[in-house]
Amino acid sequence: MDDEPDLAEPLLLGWLASVHLDAHYTRAEGDHLYRLDEQGREVAVVDFAGGYGSTLLGHNHPEIVALARDLLANGVPVHAQFSRHPYARDLASALNRVLRREHGDDEPYSVIFANSGAEAIEAAVKHAELDRVLKVGALRESIAANVEAARAAVADGTAVADGDFEALAARVDEVNAERAATRPVLFALEGGFHGKLVGSVQLTHNAAYRNPFGALGVTTRFVAKDDLASLPKLFDEERVDLLDLEVRDGRVVPVPRPLPVFCAFAVEPVQGEGGIRVLDERSARLIRTACDEVDCPVLVDEVQSGMGRTGTFLASSAVGLRGDYYALAKSLGGGVAKTAVMLARASRYRGEFELVHSSTFAKDAFSTTIALKVLELLEADGGALYRRATERGERITAALRAVREEFPDVVVDVRGRGLMLGLEFADQSGSAHAAIREHNAGGTLGYAIAGLLLRRHRVRTFPTASAPNTLRFEPSVFIGDAEVDQLAEGLRDAAAVLRAADGEALLGS
Ligand code: F0G
Repeated sequence: MDDEPDLAEPLLLGWLASVHLDAHYTRAEGDHLYRLDEQGREVAVVDFAGGYGSTLLGHNHPEIVALARDLLANGVPVHAQFSRHPYARDLASALNRVLRREHGDDEPYSVIFANSGAEAIEAAVKHAELDRVLKVGALRESIAANVEAARAAVADGTAVADGDFEALAARVDEVNAERAATRPVLFALEGGFHGKLVGSVQLTHNAAYRNPFGALGVTTRFVAKDDLASLPKLFDEERVDLLDLEVRDGRVVPVPRPLPVFCAFAVEPVQGEGGIRVLDERSARLIRTACDEVDCPVLVDEVQSGMGRTGTFLASSAVGLRGDYYALAKSLGGGVAKTAVMLARASRYRGEFELVHSSTFAKDAFSTTIALKVLELLEADGGALYRRATERGERITAALRAVREEFPDVVVDVRGRGLMLGLEFADQSGSAHAAIREHNAGGTLGYAIAGLLLRRHRVRTFPTASAPNTLRFEPSVFIGDAEVDQLAEGLRDAAAVLRAADGEALLGS
């Protein structure tokens, strides 16, 4: 096999090898991945990358693996599309029980199933667009009825138009036909990440991911968190009115009607890939208030922050941000199954969406039964694992802050919530070592540091791709003190290497 050409993303592998990250893992359990050394002995690596948030219950959690085994041994119907899916219905009910508790009200959310985070985002945007298009259609029907009523009033002499009525009606129709075709408007935060599929990549701020594909999709307006107070003004810039006709005091008068032009505002309660940036309550309030003003649905992307990782099931609950749509994925599959869901609040849900959207693998009995087990584990003992996520997050945060206090010249920030944490290294453009300056300039410093942590400390983590000097830490809720100390020791070593501008040590040459 080795003499055959590598056709499975060889360029990426070559790049990983250049920073000593091209490990081959042969086994995974809990917070550890295992590789074999030259003598074939297992070496344990503690995993703080955690599948970018997918292993809140750790790798191959014994109860999840046992359930997966039982399901397969008992012939679980994985492919039973277009049939009753009682397990999916149970999962939807279980998710709604959690949402009712976190929202403090009973409004149900309908559930559409998917296979990945980006797919859940695509489903949410598609549903929001279907809802918008149907609202545009209803508005045009209402206007047509009003024009007809005005025509009848002019015909029976109870109303008069300025000039020829039919010319006016034709003008209204012409203007509305053009304006109703206005492209939908999407908003998202700068630094946001919502996936890399054709639709979801349009919402992802990182230009390297999005720009080559801009021609394929809608245009998103990106807003800086610091500019959220100006959202009403930005929304005003996008407003479009249709023309309606009304009869007032015997006169036919044109009346503006706001066109539903806003498709969705996408937001992560904690930006993951964008550098572990926590949305605060004020920002959450500004988004929700401005969106309510123009009936723009809020799509809360909990793909990485959700499932209890930050100490509440939804990270958005902690800042009082109520979503019209939610996307959940990653840890929903318990680190074993690939599954995702989009949740749409009842007041916006369009059942006809079920007839125009589907996926071969989504909603299958294997994944949804495992997802149900995940919820059961998270909700057990009154949500003990959520509390543990908070406690373990505090333990890791304390360790990271101690590193920052020891190396204030090299470590500039520690941030995050629960088990979604980041540590930011200072800009190294002034380093005495050329290779360190080059990595810093090339946005690969974080990967070089990750290579040192793996090579010298058997700690696995990565930077957040859009904030390359920030390493992120997303272990399981079962992460132990010894592993946290192992991480802290590695970070101190990396900080000392940067302080000493020791390029050879950093790059392992
Ligand atoms: N939304 C968020 C907030 C994510 O963090 C991710 C993936 C996605 C959507 C897409 O999910 O990969 O299952 O299609 N985040 C990874 C990261 C890639 O680097 O944080 P997917």
